[in-house]
Amino acid sequence: MPYILGIETSCDETAAAVVARGGEVLSSVVASQVSTHGKYGGVVPELASREHLRAIVPVVREAMEEAHASWADLSAIAATAGPGLVGSLLVGLTFAKGVSVVRRLPLIGVNHLEGHIHAVVLDARRTGEAIETPALALVASGGHTHLFLWPGGEHYRLLGKTRDDAAGEAYDKVAKLLGFSYPGGPVLDRLAEYGDADAVALPMAKMKGNPLDFSFSGLKTAVLRWVQSKNMEEEIARRRELLRCNPRPSVEEWLRVTPRATLDVIAAFQRIVVEELLKRVERAAEETGARAVIIAGGVACNAGLRRAAHSGRLSCPAYFPTPHLSTDNAAMIAAAAWPRFERGEFDDLSLKAQANLALA
Ligand code: KG4
Ligand code: ZN
Repeated sequence: MPYILGIETSCDETAAAVVARGGEVLSSVVASQVSTHGKYGGVVPELASREHLRAIVPVVREAMEEAHASWADLSAIAATAGPGLVGSLLVGLTFAKGVSVVRRLPLIGVNHLEGHIHAVVLDARRTGEAIETPALALVASGGHTHLFLWPGGEHYRLLGKTRDDAAGEAYDKVAKLLGFSYPGGPVLDRLAEYGDADAVALPMAKMKGNPLDFSFSGLKTAVLRWVQSKNMEEEIARRRELLRCNPRPSVEEWLRVTPRATLDVIAAFQRIVVEELLKRVERAAEETGARAVIIAGGVACNAGLRRAAHSGRLSCPAYFPTPHLSTDNAAMIAAAAWPRFERGEFDDLSLKAQANLALA
């Protein structure tokens, strides 16, 4: 059975996975650098490369052991070639090139965004469920908010993308300005359940030009203005103090230092992000006659987004990755490499790490 070893180091997770036939995840190991970057409220590129260098060998070893795989069991090695932080990409890609030479394994470079989309395809392959095409694919993460039309195969058409912040970046920035931990998405998502989204009015983006483009910076600024109007220094200081004592507070602990009004603004923020994303997906589905919607990337973990996408408002079924395959991982990279492996399309050692590698 063909096994592919996938490697992902595009941002702040060092990940390796062994996937059989593009659908069976034998192992998926993710070493997060959250504790390194947390105190800066975002990823520091130099620190990320150094952490990848430290982690890559133990992470690959763990993935191989967990899969009970030997080097001789592998049929190919796949690594993220971009987009991402170039210093981070280089660690995984160079490691993969080395293994490919020493073990005489074909090398497959994967686009990180295609990887996110294949996190959903992987699940469908495993369960035998068919995702009908043409499909829409929304990739919403800390670095990207891109909407593609996917006719099938390896072709993608870009329908729209963010003009400023990515959706996950908006979560991270709003969390930072309110004094919550990094990454901001998971904590704000859980706290949003306790607030009343109707209690605070936040603006939707006003777009000129392509109506399928996204924008989140105005929303972030509106939250900033709200904070500035409220005299919140003490409240924010209490949360920062909580974080100093405990880098991973529970929801109950956050709730103890988060008054109702702040929960309301979080709920309102989340409702607008979900609405901005789904409004464009809805419109694109109607315009293109898409038969399915794939929603992937870290923001696809969002409970509010999942609930809204499954509420019947979309004209076709919506598919999300299982939550541990939504955020960065290497199983999705091995899965995206599978169709290329079947076609015998391999890369050579001239393959470059590209910070802005485009999918379409
Ligand atoms: O895909 P990913 O792991 O890395 C990138 O390629 O960027 O996505 C990470 C992003 C972060 O911005 C994080 O705040 C966001 O995904 N995120 C969420 C949730 N979980 C992670 N955003 C909203 N709701 C969540 N539950
Ligand atoms: Zn990602």
